[in-house]
Amino acid sequence: MDSKTAGLLTELEKTSDEYWNISHQTGNFISMLIKLMKAKNVLELGTSNGYSAIWISDALKETNGHLTTIEFWEKRQCLARENVEYCGLTPQVTYKTGQAYDVIKDEINEEFDLVFIDANKEEYLRFFEEVHPKLKKGGVILADNVLSHAKKVAPFVEVISNHKDYQVQILDLPDGLLMAYKKAE
Ligand SMILES: C[S@@+](CC[C@H](N)C(=O)[O-])C[C@H]1O[C@@H](n2cnc3c(N)ncnc32)[C@H](O)[C@@H]1O
Repeated sequence: MDSKTAGLLTELEKTSDEYWNISHQTGNFISMLIKLMKAKNVLELGTSNGYSAIWISDALKETNGHLTTIEFWEKRQCLARENVEYCGLTPQVTYKTGQAYDVIKDEINEEFDLVFIDANKEEYLRFFEEVHPKLKKGGVILADNVLSHAKKVAPFVEVISNHKDYQVQILDLPDGLLMAYKKAE
């Protein structure tokens, strides 16, 4: 990561409560995972001002990959575009504006190596149902806030934890990050 990008992340961390951003540790973890997996195609639900999109697209620069990120709050997505542009990461990112569930159902016709779920907590289960067929075998779903919003995400956690196609672990990062590996066999 170059110093300009690292500097903007540090700046954005000052307003993370306002924009509901993931923690620095979570961003660092996702970045390492993308590089380890050599992930090429990543989907994010919940762009906000682009803090996590910067972590993700910066890692994708190393794998020559691409991020598609969905947000229904246009003003926030405009900020994301500006922030990503500042870091020189615009070629790595496609923005979709709208309700995440509808966008995935109607506009997304490709398969992903990694899906990061970080939009409305009460919709995690229906997001998962829509994302599952679009995740490659051997791919990973990450979902933030499974400890901080445990009650709201409980139906999702219950379903994915008992799903025959997934191996699941909740990581004790700030807010709790669920990691689900889609079995290759
Ligand atoms: C927790 S914030 C995302 C933070 C971002 N991932 C980051 O760490 O920088 C959740 C975002 O999802 C958006 N959102 C919530 N529900 C949504 C939905 N159903 N469809 C699209 N966007 C949604 C909110 O407007 C908000 O900006």
